[in-house]
Amino acid sequence: MEQKSLAGKVAFITGAARGQGRSHAVELARRGARILAMDICEDVDSVPYSLASRSDLDQTVAEVEAVGGEIVAVQGDVRETADVAAAVDKCVEAFGVPDIVIANAGVNLQRGSEPDAQVAFMDTIMINLVGVWNTVHAIAPLMVERDQGGSIVLISSTNGLSGRGGDGSGAVTGYTASKHGVVGIMRSFMNWLAPYGIRVNSIHPAGVPTPMVAHPEMQAWFAGNPNAQWMGNAMPVAMLDPLDISRAVLYLVEESGRNITGVTLPVDAGFTGK
Ligand SMILES: NC(=O)c1ccc[n+]([C@@H]2O[C@H](COP(=O)([O-])OP(=O)(O)OC[C@H]3O[C@@H](n4cnc5c(N)ncnc54)[C@H](O)[C@@H]3O)[C@@H](O)[C@H]2O)c1
Repeated sequence: MEQKSLAGKVAFITGAARGQGRSHAVELARRGARILAMDICEDVDSVPYSLASRSDLDQTVAEVEAVGGEIVAVQGDVRETADVAAAVDKCVEAFGVPDIVIANAGVNLQRGSEPDAQVAFMDTIMINLVGVWNTVHAIAPLMVERDQGGSIVLISSTNGLSGRGGDGSGAVTGYTASKHGVVGIMRSFMNWLAPYGIRVNSIHPAGVPTPMVAHPEMQAWFAGNPNAQWMGNAMPVAMLDPLDISRAVLYLVEESGRNITGVTLPVDAGFTGK
């Protein structure tokens, strides 16, 4: 019998149609949280792999329901404040103000050959940085007004703590800048929200074998980048499992994290410490 440590809690998760976001949705639901899952469910021109589809989001719904969870799924783009507001409204209507926010939606445009560096840089910043800000900026005031605390987790990357792998491309620079920027959002919001008992932390995963990295253009980037040989983890762990990241999310949002805020938590098999 699973312990329902998050019974009565509401979690708002972006990028939840597949990959790590789906894992977070299922693991939080397993512990009793009700889930608002938001995902773009369509492709973005500059991204060299397919983003999630509506059927991926439906699969998240099925997996959450299979563990006995309640979920509302909303298609929307984190770059669009109107989309985020509509998803937040749906969440409040169905379940109430979120107790937990997991800002997880992101893209990585690394590829063998880049058609337009500035577009790659800007699109990455818009989704990975502005999208995170749009999400927490829409929800945090509601959490403050409700005055019952909460936990916000921003999914950054080892690229949010290190510039390793930099090659001058718009994609890699944009990814690294956006993921460092997420730390700035986390630290700034942490100071604003701490007096209200709302905690804000960031998680920094090393490579996880999701569709973001398991595609031919990423392999072409590795093949063409002389720095790629330095990209391995310190531990003999080639890739992390999405569940590794979900467990870190749980550590931060559950009772275990009740006095933890403002922390950049690597889940990276030693990558950042090398
Ligand atoms: N996979 C890795 O190696 C790795 C490593 C470190 C950090 N991360 C970060 O983890 C997070 C989750 O990535 P993942 O590995 O699960 O990849 P993924 O591509 O499987 O999942 C990302 C999800 O975000 C959604 N998304 C993308 N743009 C969006 C937008 N504008 N609005 C709403 N949803 C959008 C996608 O449709 C997809 O479902 C990302 O922030 C990523 O940068 C990934």
